Amino acid sequence: MNDLLKMLDLTPQQIIEILNLADQLKYEQKNGIPHPHLKGKTLAMIFQKSSTRTRVSFEVGMYQLGGHPLVLNANELQMGRGEPIRDTARVLSRYVDGIMIRTFAQQDVEDLAHYATVPVINGLTDFSHPCQVLADLMTIREYKGKFDGLKMCYIGDGNNMANSLIVGCLKVGMRVSVATPENYKPHPDVLAFAQNYDTFELTTSPQQAAQGADVVITDVWASMGQEKEQAERAKAFAGYQVNSEIMSLAKPDAIVQHCLPAHRGEEITDEVFEAHANEIFDEAENRLHAQKAVLVKLLK
Ligand code: CP
Ligand code: NVA
Repeated sequence: MNDLLKMLDLTPQQIIEILNLADQLKYEQKNGIPHPHLKGKTLAMIFQKSSTRTRVSFEVGMYQLGGHPLVLNANELQMGRGEPIRDTARVLSRYVDGIMIRTFAQQDVEDLAHYATVPVINGLTDFSHPCQVLADLMTIREYKGKFDGLKMCYIGDGNNMANSLIVGCLKVGMRVSVATPENYKPHPDVLAFAQNYDTFELTTSPQQAAQGADVVITDVWASMGQEKEQAERAKAFAGYQVNSEIMSLAKPDAIVQHCLPAHRGEEITDEVFEAHANEIFDEAENRLHAQKAVLVKLLK
């Protein structure tokens, strides 16, 4: 494993190895056991979109591993004035030991990785959010003790989260049922991948997707960069809400995951969110541990 660009690139074994290391690093951190695997290493973090969790968890994670993070706002880099990504990649590679990037086009991350001589980590693109899904899988395993045969239901936009969850959950042996409106399906590459699994189902019915689910997941109706489509999307996604009716169709002990930020009253009700807040904030915390595992795997 040289980079973390998307869930499609990881083998099931690599996913499990990352999660196992994440569990160990979480244990060490909780028990005050130092783990300075990245002493003297630096990570450049490029942000072309807003972030709370990704920024803070990577920054704190590098610090806890004994390394040094640099937070770089793309607008303040020459990249923001048009310096090509392939040049940025080659320059940063001369200074730092790894690059994390949050941007729009997946191709930009792929190009960055192609030209960089240090590992590249995708901190979210329009296509993919692998760091988040590793944290989600870690949380699901913490709560359920296994993956095999569990049913993950995703309701909402066929966006970066849907794309990454479908691939990640299928790879670790979960059943996956996804409900999106007809015009907001997951990416064709992801659907092509999922077609190989008889444990995958795509529907327009949130009720059908939720039936017997062990894990219920949703995400915002309008992602970063889609703010102008907010009104049109609110119409298209009415009915694609995780609410108490949906939860009554899932298993009684189903957990809820949301990558956050959440828009209460849109994709999830306040009631369901607060009833499952423990699981959701454990998920947010696990960003830290899962990413530290990725950093150790790639940078050590
Ligand atoms: N879930 C997530 O990636 O959060 P941020 O946008 O705050 O980084
Ligand atoms: N789908 C959301 C995820 C935010 C973490 C977005 O891309 O804005």
